[in-house]
Amino acid sequence: MKIDCSIDGKTLTLSLNSNKPLSLILSENIGDGAAVNHCRGDMCGLCAVLVNGKPMLSCMVPAFEIRGKEIITFESFQKTRAMKDIEKAYELVGAAPCRECYASRTMIFESLISDGVSEPEEIIKELSIVRCPCMDTEDEVNIVLKAIDIRRKRRVRRS
Ligand code: FES
Repeated sequence: MKIDCSIDGKTLTLSLNSNKPLSLILSENIGDGAAVNHCRGDMCGLCAVLVNGKPMLSCMVPAFEIRGKEIITFESFQKTRAMKDIEKAYELVGAAPCRECYASRTMIFESLISDGVSEPEEIIKELSIVRCPCMDTEDEVNIVLKAIDIRRKRRVRRS
């Protein structure tokens, strides 16, 4: 099966088995092995990437589902201006994900921030797919709200 998709801004045509998980595709094609061998289906939540802007657990996404989609991994996201907004929010709130869940949780934060989600219940629910217990839910909510504000102000300054 041939699939066209975009990974970290690069358009790719991949020849794949349709059930191969996205985590393996990322590992083989861009050297992002972050999600490989994490939990083997135990739903640890440590492998989130953005698929068309929405967080998805890459080890659970079969190849056929990424046809025509735009995938962003933490590898490329961490070099963006948007990442700096999140880092600033981590600093201001005085809390950040631990090393183990940093990439996955940060990608989920980004989807919430870029969608402007401000409902605490929704923020907590989205982030609950990461099972690592390192963060307090109140801090998670504050990080999203703070980063939305930081981004809004940055865009106002730029315009
Ligand atoms: S590696 Fe654990 S949910 Fe994907």
